Amino acid sequence: MAPDELLEAERRHQWHPFTQMAEWNAPGHQPLIIERGEGVYLIDSEGNRYLDGNSSIWTNIHGHNHPTINRAVKNQLEKIAHSSFLGLTHKPAIALGAALTGLLAGRPLPRVFFSDDGSTAIECALKISLQYWQLLGHPERKEMLAFDQAYHGDTLGAGALGGIASFHDRFSKLGLKTHHIAGIEALDNIAPSTRDQLAAVIIEPMIQGAAGMRTWPEGMLATLRTWCSDHGIHLILDEVMTGFGRTGKMFACQHEDVIPDFLCLAKGLTGGYLPLAATLTSEAIFEAFLGSHDRSFYHGHSYTANPLGCAAALANLQIFEEEETLDQLEAKVHDLEIALETLTENSPSIASFRQCGLIAGIDLTNADGSPLDPSRKTGAQVCQAARAHGLLTRPVRDTIVFMPALTITRHQIDDAFLALAQAISETLPA
Ligand SMILES: Cc1ncc(COP(=O)(O)O)c(C=O)c1O
Repeated sequence: MAPDELLEAERRHQWHPFTQMAEWNAPGHQPLIIERGEGVYLIDSEGNRYLDGNSSIWTNIHGHNHPTINRAVKNQLEKIAHSSFLGLTHKPAIALGAALTGLLAGRPLPRVFFSDDGSTAIECALKISLQYWQLLGHPERKEMLAFDQAYHGDTLGAGALGGIASFHDRFSKLGLKTHHIAGIEALDNIAPSTRDQLAAVIIEPMIQGAAGMRTWPEGMLATLRTWCSDHGIHLILDEVMTGFGRTGKMFACQHEDVIPDFLCLAKGLTGGYLPLAATLTSEAIFEAFLGSHDRSFYHGHSYTANPLGCAAALANLQIFEEEETLDQLEAKVHDLEIALETLTENSPSIASFRQCGLIAGIDLTNADGSPLDPSRKTGAQVCQAARAHGLLTRPVRDTIVFMPALTITRHQIDDAFLALAQAISETLPA
């Protein structure tokens, strides 16, 4: 298709996620058409290069077009792209199950249930937890506890856990009954009658992503684990965003030596290549489902454990070893910290920032320190301006997110922050 035909077909037929399509299709809006990727860069259909500042919505781990993952997917493709996991099994899934469950020392969560994306990883944890309580003779445990401003995905079940009004309010009352609390202190205020009806508590450990990169206080996760154990309630950790090195360790829960009852993984599982998710759980939970047929977990997806995705995920883990990705992280986290501090010192339009490993949220303000008018969508304007300087990222309202692939270099971090500084000063002149 010629460029103008492409744009016409885009306008006529596409419906994009989280997008006001009237604005997207307005005359004058020129969507970027991404054609290629190379390491931390994305390249558009006109050959322009951009640093992928949010690692393609928090998925990409080792850079785009990594030879090891490319090779693994191509090799698998030569064998078979897909076969059902229902009534059959295959080598990539067997190997991946063993490798993933071995990432936590002592293999405390030895069982893995594969699905397709972050939301389905959460759905599986919810449904396994609910069914577990039914099987144990506690059908009253059918409610969930989640945190204000949480984001766990967009399917009805996962969405019911969400705490972001604009995303979730329309649908949250239609599904699973979920109680929301602001923080760990509120646990003490939960009435015993409510507490005894909880199947599980779910949290994004260490940092809430879609809330605007809100970090939790240190020690909070361990306290939550203790509370769940004391009251016999499952703990579901949503590591869809934080998994695979983002926070400086393979998983965020490792910072506080917390073992959940369910660990939900997606996004970075395949290095950001293909949609695949995994819900890990304990042998005790698995064993409750053994016995007669009606105890089985009747849940699955056509592409469960897709072999191409499993091959990509195995290659992702191989790169962690071969390139010693986790060992390299500390220095990069430090580089990012310096870049954030320098930007904040030199720009009057930054109110504050938060960092967790290689994840950063940068809060904007007017150059005179007065709060921004949210209706002006300054965060989006800054990200739009940053494109002209070679940086692609997205805001959460007026918080700019910077969350690059773990392979980013110090020089590339500096380039990204230079682009951001220019975009901020153009959008919010002093
Ligand atoms: C913490 C968290 N959980 C779940 C999800 C949902 O994942 P997916 O978009 O793959 O369904 C996301 C997506 O951003 C997320 O950040």
